[in-house]
Amino acid sequence: MKSSSTPIATSLYGRIRLGYVLIESSRLDEWQRFAGEGLGLHVDAPQAGVLAMRIDEHQRRLIVCRGPAEDVAAVGWQLEDEAVLELVLSRLRTDGVIVREKSGEAAGLRGVERYWSFEGPKRMAFELFVRPILGTAPLQMKAGGFITGAAGMGHLAISTRVPEALLAFLQRIFDARISDFIEERVNGVVMDITFLRLNERHHSLALAATRGRRMDPLRNRIHHLNLQVASFDDVVGAYRRLREMGFAMANGIGQHPNDRELSFYVTTPSGFAVELGWDPIVVTEEAEAGWQTCTYQGISLWGHFPESLTFGMKLGQTARALGSLTRKEYIPGVAS
Ligand SMILES: [Fe+2]
Repeated sequence: MKSSSTPIATSLYGRIRLGYVLIESSRLDEWQRFAGEGLGLHVDAPQAGVLAMRIDEHQRRLIVCRGPAEDVAAVGWQLEDEAVLELVLSRLRTDGVIVREKSGEAAGLRGVERYWSFEGPKRMAFELFVRPILGTAPLQMKAGGFITGAAGMGHLAISTRVPEALLAFLQRIFDARISDFIEERVNGVVMDITFLRLNERHHSLALAATRGRRMDPLRNRIHHLNLQVASFDDVVGAYRRLREMGFAMANGIGQHPNDRELSFYVTTPSGFAVELGWDPIVVTEEAEAGWQTCTYQGISLWGHFPESLTFGMKLGQTARALGSLTRKEYIPGVAS
């Protein structure tokens, strides 16, 4: 893989982006309606038990394969070139992380030529790839378009009981930079959310942790996956379609104070949410040079009101939060 002419990379910043998300679900029919008719993505069903969603030239961005987990199984990170791949692999080796190179059917499922996989946060597979397979057929989407490119396909937000160790891992391995923090109060509990950027997208990852006693109220490995549409009409159109179709709106349309994205959150058939948003700020090179990290109070400037949180759901979250106190959370690398 590495040739003598391969330049030595020193930083991943700006050279890594969210590439794909692989979901395991037994609800493929629901996912097809949700993603195609609701969110407005291009949906292919290339074989029994697999849905492959496109939002741009990549052949696969969101993949749902039949399985019992009802959760995210793998997250693919696209790297700029082999030199960057070599850099991250050497860092993982130093950290004692076991990495497996994969190709063939597993790579085809993900829409890439080959990939390198390790056990990531919350025991999701974190997968590295350089070359995606591109789709050839024209996109057929209800949405007008999605913003990807150098910023990748969107962002992920996860809850964690070990935010310091996870942050250190992501800084050490991915050169993650802190964009800002938000303090949010939920049912009397303070949540500290750290927003991490890997490129010009304001954040590719957000880590949420309860202050004081660390608890995790979520069944799923991620809280949400964010996709960025091209226009506000796309946000409103998807919101109206998903509501009319009966999908649970976790949070109605609103705006975050830090990235200024206008978005809503809808619950997927697998339980975590998709945030569909428009027009977040872009951290340009100029903005990067003068970036000031600050802390915002409250997750939303306005809106994002919970639309489908029932008493039973609150009770379930409380029970899971208390149950999490007795479990150890896996963190990859030397900290684990
Ligand atoms: Fe988000």
